[in-house]
Parts: sequence; structure tokens; C-alpha cells
Amino acid sequence: MSRLRSAVQKGKRAALENTEVIKSSKKKKSKAAIKEEEPSETEPSSSYHFFHDPTEIPLFRSHLLQWYDQNKRDLPWRTLAMTEPDVNIRTYGVWVSEIMLQQTQVATVIDYYNRWMKRWPTVEKLAAATLEEVNQMWAGLGYYSRGRRLHEGAQKVVSELDGQMPKTTAALLKQLPGVGRYTAGAISSIALGQVTGAVDGNVIRVLCRVRAIGADSTSPAVTDALWKIADTLVDPEKPGDFNQAMMELGARVCTPKSPLCGQCPVQTHCHAFRKVSIKQEIDSKRLLSKLVSKLNTSVPDIENCLAAGSCDLCLLEDWDPQLGVQNYPRKPVKKAPRVEQTLTCIVERQRDGEEMEYLLTQRPSKGLLAGMWELPSMLLEADVSENKYKGLICDMMQKLLEKSLDANSVQFVGEVVHIFSHIHQTYIVFSVRVFDWSEGEQEQKTCWLTKSALKEAAVSTGVKKIMKLYESSSKVDSKEEKRKPTPEKRSNKIKKPKGAVTNEGPKQLCISQFFSTSNTTAKSQNC
Ligand code: ADE
Repeated sequence: MSRLRSAVQKGKRAALENTEVIKSSKKKKSKAAIKEEEPSETEPSSSYHFFHDPTEIPLFRSHLLQWYDQNKRDLPWRTLAMTEPDVNIRTYGVWVSEIMLQQTQVATVIDYYNRWMKRWPTVEKLAAATLEEVNQMWAGLGYYSRGRRLHEGAQKVVSELDGQMPKTTAALLKQLPGVGRYTAGAISSIALGQVTGAVDGNVIRVLCRVRAIGADSTSPAVTDALWKIADTLVDPEKPGDFNQAMMELGARVCTPKSPLCGQCPVQTHCHAFRKVSIKQEIDSKRLLSKLVSKLNTSVPDIENCLAAGSCDLCLLEDWDPQLGVQNYPRKPVKKAPRVEQTLTCIVERQRDGEEMEYLLTQRPSKGLLAGMWELPSMLLEADVSENKYKGLICDMMQKLLEKSLDANSVQFVGEVVHIFSHIHQTYIVFSVRVFDWSEGEQEQKTCWLTKSALKEAAVSTGVKKIMKLYESSSKVDSKEEKRKPTPEKRSNKIKKPKGAVTNEGPKQLCISQFFSTSNTTAKSQNC
């Protein structure tokens, strides 16, 4: 442990010696799901929104860190950061955790993180893995480009940096794909002890409340102010703990809804809390003055931003008394997601004496869900009518299996809604069983997988939802078949069967669960 402390101290010294200037980037923001803020050069408006009293800063730090010491969760990446003496492994381990934690809850990440670190405990081991293995490990975690970038980054570290993880915030930002300003700050403060702030979604909420910043929290002025505050507040002795304490506070106390202000260690530093208290006091005095008309009803001025009106950090809209501290932060109105429909077909085959197998195709190596395996699918143009669906599936099968299908053998299964960050996707699902097929060379990579092999494959949550729907519709059909046997297995009519899966529907199961029979207890996983 003392070796580690000295390693971290060395890192801190290196950080101080390597005073970093993060240059304002003129690059366009990436369209990828994972966006990180880039520094801007907007000037702050009013000292009210900053920590202008230097005596307040050490108090804020000690209140927060004391709370963190007593309340922090035991998380595997925290243990690794505290106990791993090898700086390269420590930096690698924290990098993996921070990438997994982008857009994913801590509780979901723990299991994935432990399995990942067991399989690839060093950057060299990850670099030697295939992208297929990485996608397989990532299956169910979502935002698959994150895993791909970790893999790409590991290969770069091994081939271009002699296996040495970057050692400063600026180097992490520059050298590692998928690492933006927040992730670089988090890795360097937690693993290397560098004195730098780290502003993620939780920290944005905490700081906007603490400093009553109510302008659009994604605007350059607010982003710039938040980073300035974070860099000022971070504890030079314990930067990693301080940043994680801010995240922890945002995740567990200063929550988006129903914040627990009564339990907040930095309540006395919080402008939002003070505003709410003063407003409540005014209201109760007003009420009292109505009851007792002779009572002196003068009320104190609310402590406020002196530049209000021209301040680019202040609340633009009116204060909503119902919201209390939740008046902060304010976000811009979200763009509506793109609406798409995709025609998908579950193709089954059963060779003599063998298990049932399902046809999968591989997505292109670039773009959404790159390199992942999926059921044969095609994006529908807006003007395609329903009566063309079966014909389109036959065309798709012709290309994939060099086989002409009878459109009557294609059966409607149902619809599945899956919401990606920016796409509202509806899968229109059909199924077909084939009895002969070509094993020839196709343009698109395909494979046939049994249920058990599918469990291990790198498939997305959308595929899992579709297969769950198929399983539930098969059960409905087999019950109906028992009652009234018909030559056709599934109804030809396009209607939603019982158990059709939408995002509002039953909890989505993992592949291991949806293929399990009702008396098999599948391990519950959060995919
Ligand atoms: N979210 C992002 N980084 C985190 C960390 N190190 N601990 C908990 N939550 C986090």
C-alpha cells in the first residue's frame, strides 16, 4: 500500500510538473453516442456562480471527503486503483471502468468489469484479443463502439507506445480513442493522482445546484464555468477521491428526482438549497403577515447573482416553486429520435438428427453496431406497403441463401420496439423454416448458430428482444395447436401476438434466459 501511495504521489508530482493546457478544439462534435465536452473560452459572468471566497473551498472539500470516506461503495475499480502497484495496470483498469461507466449504471457495470479484467488483466492481453471476442464480452452492455475503441486503444498502446499507458491527462486525451475531457480527467485523477477536475452528468447536476447555474447546461458558457469550478474545487491531496465523491454525491444524494438535501454533506455550500429555504421563509412570513396584520412583514432580499438579466449562467426561465432545487440544471429540449422500421426474419433450419439452428448475418465493420451479428434484416423505406414485406424477405433469402422461397412459408411473428439513443427502431419480425440451402460464398458474412451457440455470440439487445418475442409467440402457437391442429404453424395475419415485446413490456431477458425452458433457472443478469 505504501508503494502505491508513493506511486500515486509520484504521479501527482508529474502532474504538477506537467501543467497541462488543454487547447480549445475546433473539431466538430462527434456524432457518436458518447459525447464529451470540449473546452471553450467563454468568460464567466458573475462571481456568484463561482467559489469566490477562498476560505469556502477547503471547507467544501473536507465536508465532501468526510462524507465519501463514510459512505463510498466498494467497487472493483476503486479497489484496483487503491491497491494495484503497477501504474500501467492501474491506468488500464481505471480506463476500462470509465469507458464501461459511460452511459451505463454502476450496478450493471460491476459484473462486466470483473469478467473483463479476469479475461484481459493487462493492456497487452486486451490488444491480443480479437474484436469478435471483445464484442462477445460486451454483448448486452450497449453502445458497442465503446468496446471497439477500448480494443483499438489497447492495440495502439502496444504497437505505438511500447505498451505504456499514457501518463497525463493531455496524453490520455490525445492518445486514446473514445477518451474525451471527462474520461481523461477521471482516469488521470483516480489512477495517477493528477490534480484535475472531472465533469460528468452527475457532477454537472451537483455543481449547477451548488452554484445556482440555471442556463442550458450544455451551452459553452455553462460547460466552461463547470470545468473552471471543478478544476478549482478538486482536492490537490486526493484528486481521485474528490472526483469520485462528486460523482457519488450526484448518483446517491443530489439525484435528478427527489434529491436528499437533508443528507447532503455540502448543503451549507449550496446556492440552490439556500434559495429554496429563503423562498420558503418568505412564503411563510407572507402567510403569517396576512394572519397577523400588524406583524412587520419586511423580508430579506434573496441572495442573488448581481449580473442577473445579463448573466449567461443564470436561470433563463422563471423559477418553478414546485421544483425546488430541481430548478437546476436546465437542459435544452431534446431532438426527437429518428423513427425507423426494419424488416427482420428469423430463419431456422434443422439438419438430420441435429439441433435447430438460426441464421445470422454480420453487420458492416463501421457504423451502428459495427461487426455485431444480427438476424437477417433490411431497413424499410417509408413508402413500402405491408403486402410487400414477404416478397422483400424472399428477395433477402435469395441473396443470402441462393434459394427461392415461397412467400406463403414466411410467417408474421410480431413487432419489437427498441430505442437506441437517437433512433426509435421498430423491428417487423417474420420467421421461415428452410429445408434446403446453399453453402456457397455470399457477399455478406453469415453463420448458423444453435441456441447454445447464440448464447455466446456477440448479438445486440435488439436481437435478444426479437428472439424472446419469437419464443413467446411459439408458446402461444403451440398451445393453440394443441387445441386445434392446423397445417400452418403460425398465423398469416399481421397482428401483434401476446407477449409482443416493446420497451414498456416485460423486462427483457438475456439470451441465456429466453432460450431456457420454464423449469430451468437461468442466472439473472442485467443486460
Ligand atoms: N461513474 C463514472 N466514474 C465512476 C466511478 N469511478 N465511480 C462511480 N461512478 C462512476
